[in-house]
Amino acid sequence: MLIHSATQLLTLAGGPQRGRELGTLGLLEDGAVLVREEKIVEIGKSAELRAAYPNEPTLDAAGCVVMPGFVDPHTHPIWAGDRAREFEMRIADRAKYLDILAAGGGILSTVRATRSASIETLLAQTRPRLLRMFAHGTTTVEAKTGYGLQTATELRLLKALLSLDEENRLDLAITFLGAHAIAPEFKDDPQGYTDQLCEITLPLVQQWWEAHAPGQSLPFVDVFCETKAFDLARSRQVLTCAKELGFPLKIHADEFDNLGGTGLAVELGAVSADHLVKISDAEIAVLGASDTVAVALPCTPFGLAESEYAPAHKILDAGGILALATDCNPGTAWNESMQFVLALACRYMKLTPAQAIAAATINAAHAIRRANVVGSLEPGKQADLLILSISDYRHLGYRFGTNLVRQVIKRGRVYSVDVGYYRTA
Ligand code: NIG
Ligand code: FE
Repeated sequence: MLIHSATQLLTLAGGPQRGRELGTLGLLEDGAVLVREEKIVEIGKSAELRAAYPNEPTLDAAGCVVMPGFVDPHTHPIWAGDRAREFEMRIADRAKYLDILAAGGGILSTVRATRSASIETLLAQTRPRLLRMFAHGTTTVEAKTGYGLQTATELRLLKALLSLDEENRLDLAITFLGAHAIAPEFKDDPQGYTDQLCEITLPLVQQWWEAHAPGQSLPFVDVFCETKAFDLARSRQVLTCAKELGFPLKIHADEFDNLGGTGLAVELGAVSADHLVKISDAEIAVLGASDTVAVALPCTPFGLAESEYAPAHKILDAGGILALATDCNPGTAWNESMQFVLALACRYMKLTPAQAIAAATINAAHAIRRANVVGSLEPGKQADLLILSISDYRHLGYRFGTNLVRQVIKRGRVYSVDVGYYRTA
């Protein structure tokens, strides 16, 4: 299939974009992409490719921006129940997120609902979330467990995520987040829960994975390094055990308080450090000089009605690799749209639309170690593309609250997004 006549074709070619390189779109006017089977075969000017492949089935993208599918490198999409009541409390009573958690609500209320849900219920509730992501242009998504906090439920979440990945709409990059909060059984013994994770759970997850996902690389292991969750020493313990078992690492750091989690991530060679709202200047320098990707999650301060966002430009000035994600979760940020993330990142992190697009595609792919497969349009890469109903890429960021995706192409298959226009008589 030849997708042709794109008003603007954004290739994002050339690999992850560090520091001030961020925003290199590889823009081709009147561009075309040749897709065969699941792969991109060739990119060029429409006239050249149409002449070279006259018998190819065509898809006309005139008037449209064509770009790589979004990669969302940080989500918590699998849970049961909701937290609408807590949202109301945070607004009406000014209740604080970490205080709600300490009182047994927050993450722990989602844990109660998730533990009592069957795998069928979890699949039935998670699938539409993933499909909404897909309809808004996300073609690869990182997905964390973390609402089980006990072995049986955490394994049920891993199993459900593996089976959602096999459904083959979006690709999932799975993360084990048994260290999302201290399990309620260990309320007064956080060290006991941490020891159990290291001595029993992580080795079990490793064996379970090898049996249930043979040949697939191990999932990421993540930890919520935060006041009232895992302190720095316990975060170090979990990540060090995980590393010894061969798991690649991620961390939630500096969301509410600065505990030193970002420095730990760099020291242990984590693939990414995420949130970074409260990162210190010293850690910005360390992170910027490292290969650990800085994943900013602007939906989280927005969702919590906080005014502080990750210091994106300081991270770029330090040479950091910046990516963007939704953080989709029931507590702080129930949002499935990377387009909305871009709109927030432009306004509150002062990224240009071009910088935000690169952070949400090629750099986001790098944040889940998939930049060799997705995140840009280059020959040999997976054919994951968006055809947007805009002719100027800056409408991403500029506009918000409506879906600008016309078609999603996933592994070479075309899916139309029904925008549901009204027609009056
Ligand atoms: O990234 N901070 C920890 N995890 C999520 C929130 C999860 C929840 O509140 O359910 C986050 O913001
Ligand atoms: Fe998160």
